[in-house]
Amino acid sequence: MVKVLFVCLGNICRSPMAEAVFRQKVKEADLSDQFEIDSAGTGDWHIGKPPHEGTRGILDQYAIDYSGMKARKVKKSDLQDYHYIIAMDAENLGNLNAMAQYERTGEVARLLDFLPESQVVDVPDPYYTGNFEEVYDLVNKSCEKLLSYICQRENLKKS
Ligand code: 4NP
Repeated sequence: MVKVLFVCLGNICRSPMAEAVFRQKVKEADLSDQFEIDSAGTGDWHIGKPPHEGTRGILDQYAIDYSGMKARKVKKSDLQDYHYIIAMDAENLGNLNAMAQYERTGEVARLLDFLPESQVVDVPDPYYTGNFEEVYDLVNKSCEKLLSYICQRENLKKS
């Protein structure tokens, strides 16, 4: 089982979007039984809440399922439990690295590391910009690349 965790600040806008989009791609590749996918935030303000209405709106627009998703805070054990821990921006990455210290077992990276052609390296926070379409575009393209990267590393075949 390959375990993938997406991390942002509030776990209501960007990382739930990435979780839902990535899960959809895994499903389309007929690999759902090979993956465990979740998301979490470095902040605790929105614990237990569903994705932000902007994220829900864009996921509805693309018919991507987000049922049952609730915000949670990232915990130290996540750094050992997950094989791929994918941060949305440099601040999330810094927080994860500070938490991980010597205990990390998985790979920690920024989502846009997988989209080198992108002009931006951090996924902009739509909680502040209001631009959920821009975030969806970046998340969609980079999740496609991330899935290919993981499949290659883990010797999985997309159907
Ligand atoms: P996210 O966006 O990290 O993409 O979920 C945010 C959501 C909430 C807050 C900040 C960012 N907040 O400060 O409450």
